Amino acid sequence: RPRVFSGIQPTSGSFHLGNYLGAVRNWVAMQDEFDGLYCVVDQHAITVEQDPAVLRRRSQVAAAQLLAAGLDPQRCTLFVQSHVPGHAQLAWVMNCITGFGEASRMTQFKDKSARHGVGAATVGLFTYPMLMAADILLYQADYVPVGEDQRQHLELSRDLAQRFNSRYGETFVVPKPYIIKDTGKILDLQDPASKMSKSAESEAGLIELLADPKVNAKKIKSAVTDAEREIRFDEENKPGISNLLRIYAALDGRSIKELERAYAGHGYGDLKKDLAELVVSTFGAFKERTEAILAEPDKLDAIFAEGAQRARALAAPTLDLAYDRLGFLPAV
Ligand code: TYM
Repeated sequence: RPRVFSGIQPTSGSFHLGNYLGAVRNWVAMQDEFDGLYCVVDQHAITVEQDPAVLRRRSQVAAAQLLAAGLDPQRCTLFVQSHVPGHAQLAWVMNCITGFGEASRMTQFKDKSARHGVGAATVGLFTYPMLMAADILLYQADYVPVGEDQRQHLELSRDLAQRFNSRYGETFVVPKPYIIKDTGKILDLQDPASKMSKSAESEAGLIELLADPKVNAKKIKSAVTDAEREIRFDEENKPGISNLLRIYAALDGRSIKELERAYAGHGYGDLKKDLAELVVSTFGAFKERTEAILAEPDKLDAIFAEGAQRARALAAPTLDLAYDRLGFLPAV
């Protein structure tokens, strides 16, 4: 089975609809056909300051949500990044084959450092994409299922794999992005020019899976649309409605075309009301499942322990090979 790797940061109290539709849902769907490794990337999280107690809790909540969404530790490997030292070890190697200018071109770094105030950004935030490359290359992953916002980082991962291979000999699989066109970029409900994100200025456009269903329903009903009346998919002129149609189609199973037909002659209010109900019913049991998993921390720890053990065993030969290729003396 082809190998798949992906990660999610434990930086918020709940996954949002973008995380779910762009990434997590695909991980669940890929479990049988792919050999999946899914990682709670706590080391990426500390590129900005975290409160230790909050981080600890959010790592558990992230894993619990992955399980509640349907990841099955019998069929995939679910683990925490800091439990496998190979990530940080290989990240150093990646740092040393990345150009300073190349890293400076990463748009996510540019955006985030601008937001924190240039100068306030950490070196960790700057080297974040090289840690991400290490995550992926350490497991010889064939595919990386992510949202559109990670595409540039993945291109860097591919470049680094190829660069290492051509300098030192075939070592790493060159990973391919696995980005679903229709759900790779879910937009903010209030600002459909931006992706849905936990770091948006206002939370009004953010659908959090663990939020009160009433709050989410209200957010959908107040989503920004346009001054027309027609329910039609047109990303350029009707980004708000088009985003709602994308979300609707992803959750409902009907295609955007079918939805356009079904809502011909209806108002935006009808579409929003039905979508609000669909979102609430889709995630109705999600919070309870997540809470039930969190109520058994020993079981969660056992899943982490087993995941880390499997991940370490898979990572070790690749790290050894890379070290050997680089000319490091064998540690006997
Ligand atoms: P993170 O934690 O920001 O997001 C997790 C996943 O959710 C996707 N995503 C979205 N997809 C569609 N629409 C949106 N609005 C949206 N917002 C977020 C992200 O693309 C991502 O797939 N750097 C990564 C984590 C990471 C990783 C890796 C991923 C670390 N190492 C190795 C893949 C492979 C990140 O910060 O994702």
